[in-house]
Amino acid sequence: RTEPLVLGIETSCDETGIGIVRGRTLLSNTIASSMEEHARYGGVVPEVAARAHLEALQPAIDAALAESGVALADLDAVAVTSGPGLAGALMVGVGAAKALAVSLERPLYAVNHLVGHIAADVLDLDAHASLSPDRPQGKLEYPTVALLVSGGHTALLLVRDLTGDVELLGETMDDAAGEAFDKVARLLGLPYPGGPEIDRAAAAGDPAAIAFPRGLSRASDMAKHRYDFSFSGLKTAVARWVEQREAAGEPIPIPDVAASFREAVVDVLVTKAIAACRDHDVPRLLLGGGVIANRRLRDVAIARAAEAGVEVRIPPLSLCTDNGAMIAALAAELIMAGRAPSTFAFGADSTLPV
Ligand code: KG4
Ligand code: ZN
Repeated sequence: RTEPLVLGIETSCDETGIGIVRGRTLLSNTIASSMEEHARYGGVVPEVAARAHLEALQPAIDAALAESGVALADLDAVAVTSGPGLAGALMVGVGAAKALAVSLERPLYAVNHLVGHIAADVLDLDAHASLSPDRPQGKLEYPTVALLVSGGHTALLLVRDLTGDVELLGETMDDAAGEAFDKVARLLGLPYPGGPEIDRAAAAGDPAAIAFPRGLSRASDMAKHRYDFSFSGLKTAVARWVEQREAAGEPIPIPDVAASFREAVVDVLVTKAIAACRDHDVPRLLLGGGVIANRRLRDVAIARAAEAGVEVRIPPLSLCTDNGAMIAALAAELIMAGRAPSTFAFGADSTLPV
């Protein structure tokens, strides 16, 4: 098998990610984030993200080449995220990738961001085992259910083949899970990004203190939205609970609110993911996305999956958050499977389906 040398570009949200792989070997994974620029707005501002990508791209490519010792001329292909994501942000990466592919006279692979997250798990990381204590040895096997949770997406997928058979089982109907963490943090007066802040506050709280709603989990919802998620009702329930306390002149027990909110999110995510594994008789669950940094989510997923006879795979966090290595890895898989490159007709598609 020949192992293609691929450079991947990821600019779908606020991370400018450049990754270089040779087949399934990770050579570099460079990430520049504009998160700090968004902090004062309490969320990612698309225009700010797009401009930041434009500034960060060239230095990030140079850094990835330097780290891997690869010369541009050695590349076999260029890969880029063409969607889903923020349109303006995607366009910066797509434009750069086209320019690079044309100037190097190399094939260009436009790939789906969500499928890219799954591809993070094909990389051969056994030599880096300490990076990912929760990742069993070996790599992605089929079929696998994937739960992807970040500030921009929350989706459950059934993966039979990364290079051509990925089925979207369900996704969020409103807010992404990370977005819910960010919004609830804000209403508790905690800074952005809210996930780590809620996590910290929750450590001292009681997850059973307040019974917050589990979105789309009633029997009537499960019939139609078995694998879909909804977090806006939960966010509203937390807001109402806090308002009532304040109106009564009582203090807000932030640790208990944070722990109870986190438990509601984790419970729904894990319950639906395990249901998908059982329904489809799939003994593997892959986790991805920035919210996977949540220790409680990892622990509950690992415990409940064990009860269900399901193996949980969690790539190292640097490959769970948005990055270019996963995009390069997916393109390398496509090349090794003999798939044709993209024509140059593609653009950025903010709602690109899997
Ligand atoms: O994948 P990611 O880095 O990129 C974006 O989606 O932009 O995910 C960031 C999201 C944010 O919403 C952040 O609050 C959330 O992941 N997050 C967490 C934790 N760490 C980051 N959510 C819950 N618990 C955490 N420990
Ligand atoms: Zn992502």
